[in-house]
Amino acid sequence: MTTAFIPIIPESTAAALDRPTGSALGLPGRAYFDAGFYESERKRIFAAGWMTVGFASQVPKPGDVAPISIAGWELVMVRGRDGHIQVFHNVCRHRGMKVVGKACNARTLACPYHYWTYGLDGKLLATPAIGGPSEAAAPGIDPAQLSLVPVASGVWFDFVFVNIDGKAPPLDQHLRPVRERIEASFDLSQVKPGEGGRNGTRGYPVNWKVVLEGSIEDYHLPFVHKAFNHSKEYHTEDGGPVYAGFSSKRGLGEAAKRYGALDSAGVTLPAFPAMTQSGVAETVVLFIYPNAVLSCTPTYVSTSFMVPQGPEHTTYVSQTNFVGDGATDPAYKHLREDNAAFWNEVFNEDDGIWKTIQHMSHVREDLGLPTRFSPHWERALHAFQKYVANSLQGAQGDGMAH
Ligand code: FES
Ligand SMILES: [Fe+2]
Repeated sequence: MTTAFIPIIPESTAAALDRPTGSALGLPGRAYFDAGFYESERKRIFAAGWMTVGFASQVPKPGDVAPISIAGWELVMVRGRDGHIQVFHNVCRHRGMKVVGKACNARTLACPYHYWTYGLDGKLLATPAIGGPSEAAAPGIDPAQLSLVPVASGVWFDFVFVNIDGKAPPLDQHLRPVRERIEASFDLSQVKPGEGGRNGTRGYPVNWKVVLEGSIEDYHLPFVHKAFNHSKEYHTEDGGPVYAGFSSKRGLGEAAKRYGALDSAGVTLPAFPAMTQSGVAETVVLFIYPNAVLSCTPTYVSTSFMVPQGPEHTTYVSQTNFVGDGATDPAYKHLREDNAAFWNEVFNEDDGIWKTIQHMSHVREDLGLPTRFSPHWERALHAFQKYVANSLQGAQGDGMAH
């Protein structure tokens, strides 16, 4: 009896996915539940890329720390005394306990098991009683060699990115196409996290790609969401290996209605000044591979990321930032709340579809049925699947024993 190693993405699958969008075949069902497929994604997509792990605004003050479990890694985001954010593996150098269990403000990071204590810079400061009841040192234990293990990290806008394997190109260079695309239409220095806006976490019993693919096309909008119709002007945003997305343009008034930024008395959230002047509202939604979503509308910018937690379990974290006074002025509080309620309803409408799609991926795998793409609406979705397939090229999984 031998175990055959088969490619995670067989050549025939890659070739069928590479066809023009209208004739391409999508990822197989097992891509959405198979443990081996997920394991390859962990290593070749999440560890190898610049993965989003949090928001800088989650740790606003020096000493703020926030743990995160993502794609099988345990990390901790730390705002140091100097105001800079660093990310470490949240793994004690003694016996591997999780050092920080919940978000807090701290002077030092003390492991709950035997109290090895680390500075905010990750240095091991104390190993109480390691050499005996009143001996804080012991032969062979050199604290200088036992710092928390740092992870390559960087911040852009409010996103905190990490590169676990440390081999990705510098973050600045990697994000240049994203910055250039966004800065052409939006001045992000004018937005900040909203008080009382959407700031939420939702868990889904589905693969991370189901969540992403559920948001990366506007094809389903009028069929699933009562608030949306199809945009007449809809463009695919092609960011090669860095992002995919879509954009649309419409009049400012229509945009306020569409995106839940208008109350019954006709008051709207403040829009980007450049759009108020031109009267043309632009919306750009970018999926920054592998797991961040940046959604820029005329009056607010939402930042979201997917937290893969297993082949069939994903958490979606979202925050909404508003333009100018829209973020904090009490006069707009009801509109921030309306906006949160609006998006909550949209996500409620998607919920059942996503769960069923997850279930159907098993059925589809058994039947060997591939998926298809709308060449008008689903070019970004197609580009995303090609990114996944390219990233997994050469990965091997355990085949059937025979
Ligand atoms: S495992 Fe952290 S102090 Fe022992
Ligand atoms: Fe949707």
